[in-house]
Amino acid sequence: METIEKANIDWANLGFGYYKTDVRFVANYKDGKWDEGELITDENIVMNECACVLQYAQTCFEGMKAYTTQDNRVVIFRPDMNAKRMYETAQRLEMPPFPQDKFVEAVKKVVKANLKYVPPFGTGASLYIRPYMFGIAPVMGVKPSTEYQFRIFVSPVGPYFKGGVKPITLTVSDFDRAAPNGTGHVKAGLNYAMSLHAIVEAHKNGYAENLYPDAKTRTKVEETGGANFFFVTKDNKVITPKSNSILPSITRRSIMQVAKEYLGLETEEREVYLTELSDFKECGLCGTAAVISPVGKIVDHGKEICFPSGMEKMGEISQKLYDTLTGIQSGRLNAPEGWIVEVK
Ligand code: PLP
Ligand code: COI
Repeated sequence: METIEKANIDWANLGFGYYKTDVRFVANYKDGKWDEGELITDENIVMNECACVLQYAQTCFEGMKAYTTQDNRVVIFRPDMNAKRMYETAQRLEMPPFPQDKFVEAVKKVVKANLKYVPPFGTGASLYIRPYMFGIAPVMGVKPSTEYQFRIFVSPVGPYFKGGVKPITLTVSDFDRAAPNGTGHVKAGLNYAMSLHAIVEAHKNGYAENLYPDAKTRTKVEETGGANFFFVTKDNKVITPKSNSILPSITRRSIMQVAKEYLGLETEEREVYLTELSDFKECGLCGTAAVISPVGKIVDHGKEICFPSGMEKMGEISQKLYDTLTGIQSGRLNAPEGWIVEVK
């Protein structure tokens, strides 16, 4: 088998950050159609000062990962799901959706062109893949752009939260992330701009992230700035909040299936009230960047909710979900049909 000379990176100590790699993909939308796109090396983008993305934040993105498996293949986890979600996000933002099959092809091409940056098996790191799209034509009145760019870059990453899989503490935010009929269910850049002040405040106060309650009643759990929630009841049922204003996490949908089909657990997607938090025995965040990150404590305006799983390690069910999910992603366990797409 051909061996790829890997980049000189301290894989085990990578954080979640941008690392410039060699090759990226760019496609342009002009005169009503997408061009074929190409791989390029220049990481910089030059655009007009009045580009729609700069003035009115017409931009969206996706996040996915590539892994090296135990037997040294390089695989991507469920890229078709990201292609579909970005298609739907684009529709909501009045952007021309990028064809889903071409999205998956382009993702594979970029990973293949950057194989030396795919972290080796066993390092705990992975290659984060960031597809994104933005309105690039100048607009002055508030209206969608007429021209767009779709791009993909990759960056080797480690754990999203400092400390890896140590339980984190969250605070219940007084700021809203998503309006009831807004854009919380799509991956619009503006959702993240909205959360920047709230995350800076949370960090200043010593919390890893915010729990955003629903904006209308402020009584129900929605999600954090970058991940969905799951909870485990005392009788080992896995519960995840149901809401129209949270991002439909691909990791969450995957672990709910894993819980049912691999671990034989009962699962339920339903509204979860803040007042119920103290009934659960485990709480975790799930997402591409977060993978499964255990939550040990949630502070709700001075009231501390401490989960019985504690602040030292993941709870038993969270650990099983983590082991099964990462086992599937690393090729140690058989994956459901279509979950693993091979690049090399
Ligand atoms: N919720 C938000 C707000 C996110 O940004 C993400 C990350 O993509 C998720 C949830 C998790 O989604 P996924 O599992 O598809 O990465
Ligand atoms: C992801 O998990 O891919 C995200 O986009 C979340 C972001 C906070 C990094």
